[in-house]
Parts: sequence; C-alpha cells; structure tokens
Amino acid sequence: MDTEQQVAKHYTHGALESVILEALRDAGSDIDNLSPGDLAGVDEFHLGWRAATMEIAKDLHLSRATHVLDVGSGIGGPARYFAEANGARVTGIDLTQEFVAVANALTRRCRLSDLATFQQASALALPFAESTFDAATMIHVGMNIADKAKLFSEVHRVLRPHARFAVYDVMRTGNGEIPYPMPWAATPLTSFVGTPADYRRLLAKAGFRLEGEVSRRDLALALFQEMRRKIAEHGLPKLGLHVLMGEAAKERMGNVAVTLERGIIAPVEMIAIKG
Ligand SMILES: C[S@@+](CC[C@H](N)C(=O)[O-])C[C@H]1O[C@@H](n2cnc3c(N)ncnc32)[C@H](O)[C@@H]1O
Repeated sequence: MDTEQQVAKHYTHGALESVILEALRDAGSDIDNLSPGDLAGVDEFHLGWRAATMEIAKDLHLSRATHVLDVGSGIGGPARYFAEANGARVTGIDLTQEFVAVANALTRRCRLSDLATFQQASALALPFAESTFDAATMIHVGMNIADKAKLFSEVHRVLRPHARFAVYDVMRTGNGEIPYPMPWAATPLTSFVGTPADYRRLLAKAGFRLEGEVSRRDLALALFQEMRRKIAEHGLPKLGLHVLMGEAAKERMGNVAVTLERGIIAPVEMIAIKG
C-alpha cells in the first residue's frame, strides 16, 4: 500500500454517513432540512474548529464572485461555511472516497450543492486546468503529505494570478517527541509535520509571496478547555469529532492536546499570494 492509500485507509470509517445521520437525529435535528450549523461539531476536522474556518474566510476575502478550491476538503464543513456565509462557489477535493461521498450527501441535505461540490483526487495531481480558481484553502492536510514542494506547485498552477491561498496546518513549533496516534496518522509512517520555516521556503519556491502568518494555538487551546468543561458537565456531545474517529478519538485528541500545550506543535495559518 502506498502512502496515499494508507492515508485514505486511516480516514475511512466504513459507515460514516449513517452514523452522522443517527447522531443528528439523536440531537434533535431534522435531517431532511439541515443547516450547516447543525453539523458544526463533526464537520470541522481541524484545531480551532468553526472559529478557525471563519478566520480563514475573512483572510481569503471571499465573495459570491470567488471560486475556491478546498484541498483535502474532508466531509465538507469549511466548504459549506464558505458557500453559506460568503456565497462563494467551492470545489473540494479529497483522497478519501468515503469523505467525498459524505461531503456531497451532507451538502445536498443543506441545499448547498449548487455552490459546493466534492470529488476524489490527490492534492499532488489536481485534476484541473491552470488558472481555474480565484482562491484556495488547505486545512490540516499537509501533515499527511511529504512532498510539499509538489503540493504547492500544483496549487500554484491551478490558481489565477494574484489569487490568495490559505494554508492552515499543524506545524512543528518546538522540540520534543510527537506522540502517536494523532488525529491525522496512527503512526509516524504517514505523518510529515513541517516547521513554519519549511512552509515559508516551499511556498516561496513554488512562486507564492507570503502575506501573513498567525499561530492559532491560543484559540485551539481555549476551545479544548471549553470542550473539556462541557464534557465534564454533560458528557460527550451527540455530534463531535469522536463520531469521525470512533474508538480512537480519545487517545488521538489527548495526544494532540498535550503536544499543543507543550508547544511542540501549533496550528499555523499562512496567507500566500500567487505572484
Ligand atoms: C484532518 S482532515 C481535514 C479535513 C478538512 N480540511 C477539515 O478541516 O475539516 C485531512 C484530510 O486531508 C485529506 N488528505 C490527506 N492527504 C491528501 C492528499 N494527498 N490529497 C488529497 N487529500 C488528502 C484526508 O483524506 C482528510 O480528509
């Protein structure tokens, strides 16, 4: 099995759509009349959750006129947010076939399919012509990709000149061991966490100019604390990332929280402009 097959296997659940629909029913949502907000606990598979997605939308200057590529779109939370809140058209690609199917199914239930669509593809071989998109996002995906030079050159190719690219990845920000399993990888074999300096260098090499860089560590830690408090008071919520990750969720989330607290990793957003 090559790395991409192992990564897709890592994320594949097997019965994800039915498990999410069941959790939504339990939470009292009308599954035939969903709003993207109903899904917010489960469909933002990154640190800082919906709040981090909102920051990215602002930094990308999205509008009705923007066609966005979401690289590694997961089950579609960020894409649906960009569509609903900004009226942007979004094309998501993801390696994991089940995530693509669930992303399209949930988007239909939110009646956003005219704006947001998803297809299976690798970020290292984007199935689009050059200069197709006005903006791009990549949210917590680079940790699964060793060849970031190829990744950034692919995104650069499909963007129009002067387009904005928001990278929001978990990066190495300090010394120390990264424990596994993590949410993105069960072992170090499919984990390629880079430093901010790696990202800056490779973005520049691909032809991007860095416009801004911000760590979302404080946001992620604050939301972890809030989540712990809510779980202590009310138990696990019906909808949460544990629905995506299953049994392994507790250990993976625990490892990510402790490594974040120790400053070994942090979620970092970079805004790059195609020159
Ligand atoms: C942690 S999830 C983040 C999903 C989504 N961006 C979000 O924030 O909710 C990482 C996603 O990246 C996808 N991915 C990993 N490597 C990829 C690659 N080489 N090409 C496309 N997608 C990839 C995985 O399938 C998974 O859906």
